[in-house]
Amino acid sequence: MKEDLLSEIDSLANRFRQKVSAVSSEHEVLKVKSTYIGREGHLTLLMKKMGSLPSEERPVIGKNANLLKNEIEKICQEQLEKIRNLSSLSRLQQERVDITLSGRTTACGSIHPITQMMRNVLNIFSEMGFEVYEGPEIETDFYNFEALNFLKDHPARDMQDTFYIDQHYVLRTHTSPIQIHVMKSRTPPFKVVGPGAAYRRDSDVSHTPMFHQVEGFMVGRQVRFSDLKGILTEFSRRLFGDKIKTRFRPSFFPFTEPSAEIDISCVICRGRGCRVCKQSGWLEVLGCGMIHPAVLERVDYDPKDVSGFAFGMGIERIAMLKYGISDIRLFFENDVRFLSQF
Ligand code: PHE
Repeated sequence: MKEDLLSEIDSLANRFRQKVSAVSSEHEVLKVKSTYIGREGHLTLLMKKMGSLPSEERPVIGKNANLLKNEIEKICQEQLEKIRNLSSLSRLQQERVDITLSGRTTACGSIHPITQMMRNVLNIFSEMGFEVYEGPEIETDFYNFEALNFLKDHPARDMQDTFYIDQHYVLRTHTSPIQIHVMKSRTPPFKVVGPGAAYRRDSDVSHTPMFHQVEGFMVGRQVRFSDLKGILTEFSRRLFGDKIKTRFRPSFFPFTEPSAEIDISCVICRGRGCRVCKQSGWLEVLGCGMIHPAVLERVDYDPKDVSGFAFGMGIERIAMLKYGISDIRLFFENDVRFLSQF
């Protein structure tokens, strides 16, 4: 009995050593281990049989069995570690990060071209001593029309041009009501620019229902048309460059008299005539004039005592001229391919 068990331990040891030398995965190691020393393992079962041995024979068998059990545990542990090291090494080699690869840059936002143009225009007038004043976008009929000398039946008051909120309130159709707000609350002399949004029921390649204007006006003693001419000629030169020519063309606005429109020589063809300037060589940039005496009287100024000039320009329009953009709607679609060019 004792001899049988001893040789069985021997042969278990041999079989184990053979098996364990051929393993290549964690799973296989664990399988071999449980085949020998798991709950139903060969060595476990053999050790259970020792109970029936005569007590003097137990120590020798027990010692050999324990030695083998320790050996199996130790070797299996070593194999596991070896396999785990190998697999993390090969993973490291496969997953190697190329630290010489240049990084991905994050896209960075920029100021919208209309905001940029608005700031350019305001900067130029600030340099010339103008203050900035903003008025409300919702106006009464009085501020938007009546105080600006629009007759009751003036076509600009028609439902098709104006967004009416109710009988009394409108979305301002231009920034000119800012003139009235300032004149009613200040005493001349002053020079003011008023930036902001304006609204009209209009939509095509050169009109959007919401757009931006900058209003400007100067009121005081003996303000003359030559002041208007000088300031706006200098403004055009600073905005569009030294090479640009300007011309003043007679026009009409209810709130200015005389009224004019300013044209600049075409920025695309330099005056030779092209599609953008419709072969005329000139582009219309803004409306202006001397503030109408009727408007001055509306705000309790004495037209014999003070005079003033006023002008108003569309920011989208100026940006389109400056950058050669043919569709105003591009400004509002916010396609980054368009916006990132400014
Ligand atoms: N408010 C006018 C417009 O929107 C422009 C303008 C302003 C004309 C001031 C003359 C003086 O068309």
